Amino acid sequence: MTKENVLILGSGGREHALCWKLSKSPYLKELYCIPGNGGIETIAHTDTSVDIMNFEAVKRFAIDHEIGLIVVGKENPLVSGIVDYFKKNSEIKVFGPNQHAATLEGSKIFAKNFFMKHDIPTAPYQTFFSKDDAIYYLRSQAMYPVVIKADGLAQGKGVMIVHNEEEAIHSIKEMMDSKRFQSAGEKIVIENFLDGKELSYQLLFMDGEYVELIPSVDYKRALDDNEGPNTGGMGNMAPPPWLDDDLIKQIKNKIIKKLASSLKIEGIQFTGVLFLGLMICQNTPYILEINVRFGDPESQVVLPLLKNDLLEIILNPKIPFSETPLTWLNKKTTCVVLASKGYPDHYEIDKPITGLEKLAGKDNVLVFHAGTKKNGNQYFTNGGRVLNVVGMGDTWQESRQVAYEAAKLIHFDGKTNRTDIGLFE
Ligand code: AMP
Ligand code: GLY
Repeated sequence: MTKENVLILGSGGREHALCWKLSKSPYLKELYCIPGNGGIETIAHTDTSVDIMNFEAVKRFAIDHEIGLIVVGKENPLVSGIVDYFKKNSEIKVFGPNQHAATLEGSKIFAKNFFMKHDIPTAPYQTFFSKDDAIYYLRSQAMYPVVIKADGLAQGKGVMIVHNEEEAIHSIKEMMDSKRFQSAGEKIVIENFLDGKELSYQLLFMDGEYVELIPSVDYKRALDDNEGPNTGGMGNMAPPPWLDDDLIKQIKNKIIKKLASSLKIEGIQFTGVLFLGLMICQNTPYILEINVRFGDPESQVVLPLLKNDLLEIILNPKIPFSETPLTWLNKKTTCVVLASKGYPDHYEIDKPITGLEKLAGKDNVLVFHAGTKKNGNQYFTNGGRVLNVVGMGDTWQESRQVAYEAAKLIHFDGKTNRTDIGLFE
């Protein structure tokens, strides 16, 4: 197999973890990332001048740098059709689904209708195209809490769990009148609240065949004890300590196999990562959402445990792909997200980050940069989620302790993090 120049699109902790994983492959020639971040630029050539939503500009960059493979980290280019664009306009291989398949993430209404049509268990829901209809429904039928979701992409923040009519109407007005999520909130889903434990499953697909990545648990709410607003993810751990064989069997039979066959029925030949956000209620799995790319921060805890060469798998998948065994380190990982004060709402950036050098060379700690930039030798905050500190250990407790001890050594003005990542009953 020849070596390739690889380009990753995105700027978060997931893309740093992907760069880190791909940089270990003997099949890599040069690694590029657009736009990248402060951490990524230490292992890949980055370029902040190219807009990843400008496919023509990405193609020009790819041709200029003799790129053989593009891995799309972020959902927005996928939902806007980057895979279709490259298929039509170049020979360059792109790892990700086409625009039709990406609608599973790009439209919650499309995804919910897909689950219903194919009998994949999900929370009962209604869809609304007008504020008045939504409010009428809430006044006449809703049982609180209910979950209100913007149909389109909203950086993981377009979901509101509301506890009474007043909150519900406020959220609907924010989405549909004030356009808090721009056009993403013009249509909404209102669905029943499911009380349970969340689980993230990722499937690696090649032309419709898939293998499973190990599952993980995401902590989505901003504050300890699952309080506060939803975020893109404040930390996670892999694998989930409480996942037993019966539950795994149910997830495979009721959700994963059905999804894979439904994709075939709908003529979707998926390539890329299908991310399933699941809720386990009284030992029964339900699907909350689908994403069409690697999870963030799921990648940060899952990729460090993967023994296989991810680049080799993507460039040269064994046939039949679904029988390629993935192998995993017998370790546990915990990721603590260090965020800027105020995230997921307003926060400040440009705060100097100190202490990272104290973690260099520790082989049980990985620090993936999420929202940072580098100026000379100094890193600065540049986003809501700043750093993802990953601890690895033989037990969950050990990985958790390693992550939190490492997190304590890093400082920036306004640093906040949850203190209960990895605690489980
Ligand atoms: P989604 O983008 O649909 O996965 O929603 C983001 C987060 O909102 C999920 O990870 C859950 O924490 C929460 N959520 C979404 N739908 C529900 C639901 N029906 N019941 C309870 N929590 C939910
Ligand atoms: N952590 C969930 C996501 O990647 O959207």
